[in-house]
Amino acid sequence: MADYSTLDLMDPKTFDGDTSGLMDWLCEKEVYWDPQSELWAAASYDAVVAVARDPKTFHSEEGNVPKLPNDPSFINLDGKAHKKRRGLIKHLFTRPAIARLEEHIRDAVDNLIDEVIEDGECDFVASIGSMIPLQIICEMTGIDEEWRPMVHEAIDGFILGGSGPDHVTEAVNEAFITFGGLHMHLVDQRRAEPKDDLLSLWIHAEIDGQPMTEDELLFEHTMMIIGGSETTRNVMSGAIKVLSDQPEIRDRLLADPSLLEAASEEAIRYVTPFIRMSRTATRDVEFYGHQIKKGDEILMVYPSANFDKRKFDDPYTFNIDRDLKKTKVLSFGFGQHFCIGAYLARLEVKVCLEQMLKRMPDWEVTGEGTRLHSSFARGYTSLPIKFTPGKRLNAMAAK
Ligand code: HEM
Repeated sequence: MADYSTLDLMDPKTFDGDTSGLMDWLCEKEVYWDPQSELWAAASYDAVVAVARDPKTFHSEEGNVPKLPNDPSFINLDGKAHKKRRGLIKHLFTRPAIARLEEHIRDAVDNLIDEVIEDGECDFVASIGSMIPLQIICEMTGIDEEWRPMVHEAIDGFILGGSGPDHVTEAVNEAFITFGGLHMHLVDQRRAEPKDDLLSLWIHAEIDGQPMTEDELLFEHTMMIIGGSETTRNVMSGAIKVLSDQPEIRDRLLADPSLLEAASEEAIRYVTPFIRMSRTATRDVEFYGHQIKKGDEILMVYPSANFDKRKFDDPYTFNIDRDLKKTKVLSFGFGQHFCIGAYLARLEVKVCLEQMLKRMPDWEVTGEGTRLHSSFARGYTSLPIKFTPGKRLNAMAAK
């Protein structure tokens, strides 16, 4: 096995290209001290779960992006404070609440497919993959259509900044300023005239008799926009690529759409769009034979955990027959911070694949595409595809 001991877990270069060797190496170690970035990595399946399920020892309150200050969104809260803030919106993300969005999501996907179906080719990420989650999360928080291209750009900036302080460039600061300006504009609007959206809910909510502060509102909104868009698009493009490479699996999905849910969950494992979230040790603790000191940061490395051979047979094979109910995929995290958007993400991926299979079933990826350069998230930023041209569903909206 190659030696990766000079790796730097904060450096995006570490995650360029094929990372399977690195992931196996990390996973084998279970818990690893990275002397370059001076932080720990929990890398095996069990080690990630052990960190996530013990917020008393490994807390979120110093932030979930290593080396950067925390912000006051609920991803950085623990215990009762976390429960109360998450509790404000959790009813909107339950399985039944999300299931009610299915036909709306299908219409959104069909409208996007309509825009390219006659052309016989497109960049899947730009035309479809990035647009579905963006539209749905913007509708939920309350960002009108006219602002979405700007939000789209801001999200790309936020993701760059997620690689750590060395990557908080002018463009990243610009993204925060632009999104912050839009957020304040929308907050003013919703204060004057509340609507049925998350922003109005947060503005008018009280926790223990107190409204949320301006900072809490801004970062709650930012967290939701980042969580709601970037990751899901990366799963969709990864699924489009793997099904293009393995048409025999696509044929099975065409013959039996009831397999789509399993295929979506396997795509969520196979892509593992977030590389890591982090925690900080609240005390000196011995963990997997290592002495972790109070204040040390520890990453939960999701791709190594999701490809842990002890948990998933032949993990680098895309296998829609895996029993992922027995061994849960860790892409959405684990424990009290388990992704609030998991049902939404799963549904978006499933409906996207379903409509692609119905309307352009012979899609083929025609080039390498471009991959994110990041130590935080992974996926395609562009992915060219071609397909047999078809007809629009909505002829009225023809270009
Ligand atoms: C495939 C898509 C997605 C992946 C892989 C993903 C991944 C994750 C992970 C790993 C966490 C845990 C963070 C931690 O433990 O520190 C998380 C939390 C979170 N996600 Fe997602 N996410 C996805 C989709 C979404 C969507 C669609 C939304 C918005 C609706 C969303 C919003 C959030 C929020 C608000 C949290 C914080 C939850 C908490 O701290 O209680 N995510 N997500």
